[in-house]
Amino acid sequence: MNILITGGAGFIGINLAISFADKGATVSILDNFITSSKNRITKILTRYNLNLIEADLTLGIPDEIREKTFEQIYHLACPTGVNNLIRLSEEMLVTCAIGTKNILDLAKEQKAKFLLASSSEVYGDPEIFPQKETYSGNVDCRGIRSPYEEGKRFAESLVTMYCRKYGLDGKIVRIFNTYGPNMSESDNRVIPKLLRFSMANLPLTVEGKGLQRRTFLYIDDLITGIKLIMNSDNGIPVFNLGSEQDISILELAQSILYLTNSLSTIEFTDRPDHDHKARMPDLKNVYNLGWQPSVNLKEGLTRTINHIKNNSSY
Ligand SMILES: NC(=O)c1ccc[n+]([C@@H]2O[C@H](COP(=O)([O-])OP(=O)(O)OC[C@H]3O[C@@H](n4cnc5c(N)ncnc54)[C@H](O)[C@@H]3O)[C@@H](O)[C@H]2O)c1
Repeated sequence: MNILITGGAGFIGINLAISFADKGATVSILDNFITSSKNRITKILTRYNLNLIEADLTLGIPDEIREKTFEQIYHLACPTGVNNLIRLSEEMLVTCAIGTKNILDLAKEQKAKFLLASSSEVYGDPEIFPQKETYSGNVDCRGIRSPYEEGKRFAESLVTMYCRKYGLDGKIVRIFNTYGPNMSESDNRVIPKLLRFSMANLPLTVEGKGLQRRTFLYIDDLITGIKLIMNSDNGIPVFNLGSEQDISILELAQSILYLTNSLSTIEFTDRPDHDHKARMPDLKNVYNLGWQPSVNLKEGLTRTINHIKNNSSY
């Protein structure tokens, strides 16, 4: 099978590429390395024989991609990171809009199955728990998080339009926090950041009192879910994918200290105004496909820590 993964050099993309290559698929990844690093994946590219096309999706589809025919296209390209919400705000919006349109046109031409990596951020600061896929969310279109939140919402709207108007076989996955091996060294999301500091015996920073609760899914479970959703045929176009096991950020920091055998202390700082209190996925749709997470947080953190120790990469 011929697979294309946009944003394939990033954390989720490279793990997805490895899992396909392991099963004998031919995998191309398209990335401009805006939130990932080429150095970090060089060995992986060779080991798994992945075809890298270095390009910015917003500038069009390179000839090298057009010359191939893909059965499945996974569209993951999007700058990520709360710390990038202002610095890469324009790139977030433009990639979600123009980048998504460019890759949708390719999927339409090639009649490829298509999957968009959307985000739980489409729910904004939710007023309903858990969030079902039918919940339309609570997002401020001018808020500080809007380049990412509204970018993903617009990308979802584009995919939906291509399905309705052009008969595209497209799926949307709203990903909730995911973690695991191959996260980038500069990834400032909570788990990689806590791991980085804890393993270096530096103080861990926890915002507020650390009582805000979050859920975390291990990457292998996410990938199993993404593939099931891409191949599903039950007429449902949009799926939440995440974990229902929530944990406070303080408890998470304490677990990480324990599992890394760290000498670090925990320091408390102010919480940013735009930080959401909590989110919780309603997972009935993906459970109905037969999906179940199989790696609990302790096991997933242990696997991630071992991977970092063996590869000196986050
Ligand atoms: N990791 C999570 O917990 C999580 C949660 C919700 C949604 N998602 C979504 O899943 C996808 C993958 O996330 P990730 O965690 O691997 O993030 P990541 O930042 O590691 O990967 C995103 C990749 O997209 C690439 N990219 C960005 N703009 C591009 C462009 N214009 N052209 C080509 N490449 C471009 C980046 O360089 C990067 O390699 C993203 O769309 C993200 O929004 C991830």
